[in-house]
Amino acid sequence: MSGGPFDTLVDTAKSEFDAAAHKPLLEAWQGLSLADVRADLSARLMAAGIDEGADESRFLINHVLAPARLADALADPALFSWQAADQLAALAWSRLARVPLSQVLGSQPFWTLDLAVTADVLTPRADTEALVEAVLAEVGRVPARLVDLGTGSGAILLALLSERESWTGLGVDLSAPALAVATANAARCGLANRAGFARGRWGTGLADGSADVLVSNPPYIVSDVLAGLEPEVREHEPALALDGGIDGLDAYREIIADLPRLLAPDGLFALEIGHDQGVAVTALARDAGLTRIRVLPDLAGHDRVVIGRRGPCTDDPDG
Ligand SMILES: C[S@@+](CC[C@H](N)C(=O)[O-])C[C@H]1O[C@@H](n2cnc3c(N)ncnc32)[C@H](O)[C@@H]1O
Repeated sequence: MSGGPFDTLVDTAKSEFDAAAHKPLLEAWQGLSLADVRADLSARLMAAGIDEGADESRFLINHVLAPARLADALADPALFSWQAADQLAALAWSRLARVPLSQVLGSQPFWTLDLAVTADVLTPRADTEALVEAVLAEVGRVPARLVDLGTGSGAILLALLSERESWTGLGVDLSAPALAVATANAARCGLANRAGFARGRWGTGLADGSADVLVSNPPYIVSDVLAGLEPEVREHEPALALDGGIDGLDAYREIIADLPRLLAPDGLFALEIGHDQGVAVTALARDAGLTRIRVLPDLAGHDRVVIGRRGPCTDDPDG
């Protein structure tokens, strides 16, 4: 072998090498160039059932080599050091065990933000950006008190605060570890001065009329479906963030029943839903006396958001 990372393996590194769980990867990569390591990693990821293995091998290598980028390291083998190979193998080993890429890398883009992600929070999904867009389309730049029930990483709350400088926000979650991640994310995004967090069961601890805008992406997966989900979700994301009960609607029942109390007059609510839950969640909202209820799609055209108001029925005969 020559020109690869293992040329620089010294005695201390050798003992770490022997102890590492990811040693099989390092052994397989001995003597390989970075281009060959990348091809090998892509193939292993795909063999492990990760369809985007080629893209992910690039993300993992870029993460390890940053700020040197893949193209530079391909041109200059010295940039792909023993330490870099060791770090890459450790990350790849986790990913091959189907730990979500966001948890392996420690962060996930959402909206225009880059959010820290751990096993204590749901990885923010692109689908959820439909809810952010729906709220922004509905509420202009007037000051507002935003409440996010089940804030998780803080994704929805922080995305909305980043777009509305006059808003303040409160993120509520039952999970204390999730709130620690959300609090760190508020600081990471420079929004800590307008974002507060509280532990609680949905809106039960909040005062009457305390939300001008209330958002939530509650757990909505039918309990029986959970076991059939991909390992990244089933084994590595918190069940508290996923399990919506026997029909997937448990959280909506609780949250929606409390919306007329929590919302200020004419206050807006926006709830993320599963693609087949629009009719059921609309019925719950209507039964609670909420008005101007609409179901909005995500970018893929699937029903994704139920939005409405606490207030008089003005423009929608069905509201
Ligand atoms: C689907 S995740 C959404 C996380 C984040 N808002 C997002 O969109 O990425 C649901 C969140 O609700 C929280 N949660 C579950 N049950 C709750 C309850 N009874 N009260 C408050 N939060 C709850 C979970 O801990 C989790 O963070």
